Amino acid sequence: MMDRFDVEGGRPLTGTIECAGSKNGTLPLMAASLLTKGVTILDNVPHLQDIFTMAMVMRVIGADVQLENGKLRIDTSHSNFFEAPYELVRKMRASFYVLGPLIARFGKAKVSLPGGCNLGPRPVNLHLKAFERLGCKIDIDAGYVLAETDNLKGAVIDLDIASVGATGNIMMAATAAEGTTTIHNAACEPEIEELGRFLTEMGADVSGAGTPTVEINGPTVLKPVSNWRVIPDRIEAGTLLVAGAITNGRVTVQNCNPEHLSVFLNKLADTGADVEISGNDVTVDATNRKLSAVDITTAVYPGFPTDLQSPWTSLMSVANGSSTLTEKVYPERFSHVPELERLGAKITKEMNSAHITGVDSLKAASIMCSDIRAAAAIVIAALAAEGQTSVLRVYHLDRGYERFEDKLNKLGGKVLRVRE
Ligand code: UD1
Repeated sequence: MMDRFDVEGGRPLTGTIECAGSKNGTLPLMAASLLTKGVTILDNVPHLQDIFTMAMVMRVIGADVQLENGKLRIDTSHSNFFEAPYELVRKMRASFYVLGPLIARFGKAKVSLPGGCNLGPRPVNLHLKAFERLGCKIDIDAGYVLAETDNLKGAVIDLDIASVGATGNIMMAATAAEGTTTIHNAACEPEIEELGRFLTEMGADVSGAGTPTVEINGPTVLKPVSNWRVIPDRIEAGTLLVAGAITNGRVTVQNCNPEHLSVFLNKLADTGADVEISGNDVTVDATNRKLSAVDITTAVYPGFPTDLQSPWTSLMSVANGSSTLTEKVYPERFSHVPELERLGAKITKEMNSAHITGVDSLKAASIMCSDIRAAAAIVIAALAAEGQTSVLRVYHLDRGYERFEDKLNKLGGKVLRVRE
């Protein structure tokens, strides 16, 4: 199904909207549930395609998975299969998170290599090197990773890059390794901090998650967790705030975690928008003003998130003045740029940077989504464009944003989903 959005631009978004639970927070917790037998229950889980894809991967492994009203129930009692097939892993790279738990629980795993992706090269070499350090034999055959071990042993792992996926995967595998595993240059993202707390609740001995050094002592007896509330989605929150700003509206995002967004919120305030934090709610007010151009450079947490770089490109396309956006995490992540140009944005690409000269206004055209965050960026740009923009291939958006058109419409946007 190739749904499209017809977006009537030029309407300021105003009002209050609830932040969804974190997609990138939920995915590793689902994988972690495979570490032991029994029923895990996660609450505040967003209903979106990536979660359904992970559920399918888990079902292949023999887990029973049900999602109802934000509650995800996973029963791993009868999981007995240790394979994740290409058909699913190619749809979502985060499926690769099951490798660590499968190695830990079964001592073997067969997981497809994820393959290419629209963000540019996204290898898994760091994951594989680390599993080898933990005493796992790794072979690649016909596009699959074959992992096998008799005995996982704790090790010191120095990550060349602070990879979110590798850090999470290693943490999960290390719960079954004998002795101490220390991860240096670990990713510090809130989703990793949450995984650390979740594993601790399961009975693992994990310290330092959310800092550059994580230590796991194993093995310990693990039990399932049945009352976990997933953290708010900081990327959805940031995206909705940009939507408020770009339409010169006033939007409050409720129940997010402003601490997880502090660099982004400071940049948003630098544009001249009023940004107000009240407990777990953030309000952006950009009514009756032209926002100013502000440079950003993406970085690992707590830096400016790469997942908000594309919405920021949209915002800067109509800001007053010129800005430079530098992408340090995924240097090739600019597939939204040609689409924004179709709306009249003035952008010059140079290596891993985009130089943007703000224009007075964008104008409607037909445009196309190419990855989750690029999709969010161009839908938001369409909200600010004069006339009716058709946004094709919104299935990319649906991977990561729950009922996004409903949320935008609740705020006064006019976004129609057309089933083709
Ligand atoms: C996660 C997020 C994604 C976000 C990204 C960076 C999930 C499900 N996805 O993706 O939304 O954009 O973090 O914040 O949480 N790398 C290697 N070798 C490896 C692993 C990674 O070279 O083995 C490189 C990647 O190509 C990239 C950088 O490390 O340049 C960061 O990637 P990583 O942190 O692993 O991203 P993901 O966990 O895939």
